[in-house]
Amino acid sequence: MNLYFLMTALYVIMALIGAVDTALTSYTILPWFNGLRWLRVHFITLGAMTEALFGLLPVLLAIRFSLPRPKLRWDIWLTLNAGLLILLVGIPIVNQALIFAGGTLVFVATVLLILQLQQMRPAERRSSVADTSTGDGRPFYITGLSYFLLGIIVGTGLWLGWSDWLQIKVPVEVHIHANNWGFLSLIFAGLLVDLYPMWAKRPLAWPRAVTPIFWMMSIGALGLVLGPWFTSNWFSVPGLVLHLAATLWLLLNVIKPLLGDREAWSQPGIWHLVTSYFWIMAPVLVAPLIILGVPGFPGAGIEQNAPQALIYGWVFQFGYALLPYFFYRAFLPEAQPQLGGSWFSLMTVHLGGIFLWASIFITEYQSILHGTAYVLWAASIVPVAIDIWRIVRTGLARLEAVESSAQLVEIRPQTD
Ligand code: HEM
Repeated sequence: MNLYFLMTALYVIMALIGAVDTALTSYTILPWFNGLRWLRVHFITLGAMTEALFGLLPVLLAIRFSLPRPKLRWDIWLTLNAGLLILLVGIPIVNQALIFAGGTLVFVATVLLILQLQQMRPAERRSSVADTSTGDGRPFYITGLSYFLLGIIVGTGLWLGWSDWLQIKVPVEVHIHANNWGFLSLIFAGLLVDLYPMWAKRPLAWPRAVTPIFWMMSIGALGLVLGPWFTSNWFSVPGLVLHLAATLWLLLNVIKPLLGDREAWSQPGIWHLVTSYFWIMAPVLVAPLIILGVPGFPGAGIEQNAPQALIYGWVFQFGYALLPYFFYRAFLPEAQPQLGGSWFSLMTVHLGGIFLWASIFITEYQSILHGTAYVLWAASIVPVAIDIWRIVRTGLARLEAVESSAQLVEIRPQTD
């Protein structure tokens, strides 16, 4: 049983509770509490998504390289989860020692995972020329996790004064960019490269585009990290152009083979995967207006609030489709795994994003719009949470049945 997925299922529920609490707080029904701003985002990013990726990546590479299923690495699981729990205590009370300890443990867990993935080698030597139909997600995973290491250092140091001696001009933005344009963008791209042939039952439109997409996205992310680090558009603008071009090329690679295939578009999962990318592009579309200082564009309001729509609209929605798919493979291996999500979740998660952005521009109704955004996001999580727990419960019941029948065989005395 994959213990990371059990933690993922728990953090999906915590994200739901965080969204409901934020809604009730915005409606001033519940009082605000310190740390809510951190928790409502990191239950998703550091909780649900990071746990799922730590549980999935070694298994995925083992399948790809025809290696036996890797055993659970207790050192990685313990350092990640101990680090996460210490941060959940330390961040809301802004305790520097706990933040340092928690961040360091998550950093160690990530280094151990990178080393584990690097040491995995294909069982039989693959000829790079012959098999281009299925790209290789590993470079995406290792580079993505390396950006996560940078995101952890900057995030841990945000309230420890590290940004001063690291000479970082806009540390929160460097943290967000390293973790979203670096870590998750690259890992999500690697997952699309590795998994698309499995659930779409066809190759990507241009398999040879995988390597240029990898380099454009990796170098683009570097520009988007160095930009706010030195407040220089000489890094941000080329970084943005490279990363956006790579993301659009990746999406076209996914969409083109499905064009005209009504059956493929009849499941909400593919719509979650593709349309979720609108919410990582939304800040990009308004960025030039902020940089040019166009009147009526609340640059500060967008920087303050847009990350929430990025995390719920892109990161979590991408998870709506892929988390249930992973859970099927982990807990119900006989069942035909399918992408998760629902039409209800699709509608409510996008409406949530629209209400969040509206709350940035229509300031007189800011809290009611902000609260409603979180009501809609909470509603969008419910069907996915129910689906994930249904898979976990069925899978665990199956496991218990197998175990008890094995025990019965053991204790029943040999009659013949
Ligand atoms: C050890 C890991 C991490 C630590 C220590 C950390 C720490 C922090 C801190 C201290 C803040 C500022 C919160 C505030 O202003 O109230 C923050 C904000 C943020 N972090 Fe992290 N973080 C971590 C991992 C991540 C990851 C993996 C992601 C995304 C993939 C992420 C995305 C964000 C976002 C989007 C914000 C802005 C939240 C907002 O303004 O609403 N963080 N983080």
